[in-house]
Amino acid sequence: MVDIWNANKWGRCTHVKDPVRERLDPNFLGFGRTMTDETGRYRFRTIMPGSYLARPDIDRWRPAHVHVSIRGGSARLIAQMYFQGDPHLARDPMFILLGEAQGRHFGNRVGQGAEGETLYSWDIMIGGRNTAYFES
Ligand SMILES: [Fe+2]
Repeated sequence: MVDIWNANKWGRCTHVKDPVRERLDPNFLGFGRTMTDETGRYRFRTIMPGSYLARPDIDRWRPAHVHVSIRGGSARLIAQMYFQGDPHLARDPMFILLGEAQGRHFGNRVGQGAEGETLYSWDIMIGGRNTAYFES
């Protein structure tokens, strides 16, 4: 089972405890859930998340990202997908912590959908040499 959640275009997540003081978007739910198919594929439709000011005291912004939770059996793994070229990546502690795994956490732009939407793919590897970095 795969869950995602991401900020709206103003950087606000749909969560009662989100400290970001930007406005909510009544047209954007902010999260979704699906089951992978028999080959492990999944698909979501969301919006490009906005960056948000995570630490106003030190002017630290989070780059645009999509949170992903993967559940199977009793296990739950959480990771984040980023977008190449985001100017906030270089100073983001979460992204910096990925180290050599940074490249495996970018959504790969693969084309354009029928309604003009940008399509990304992200293969989430669980285990092995190319495993994703999962938050504890
Ligand atoms: Fe976030």
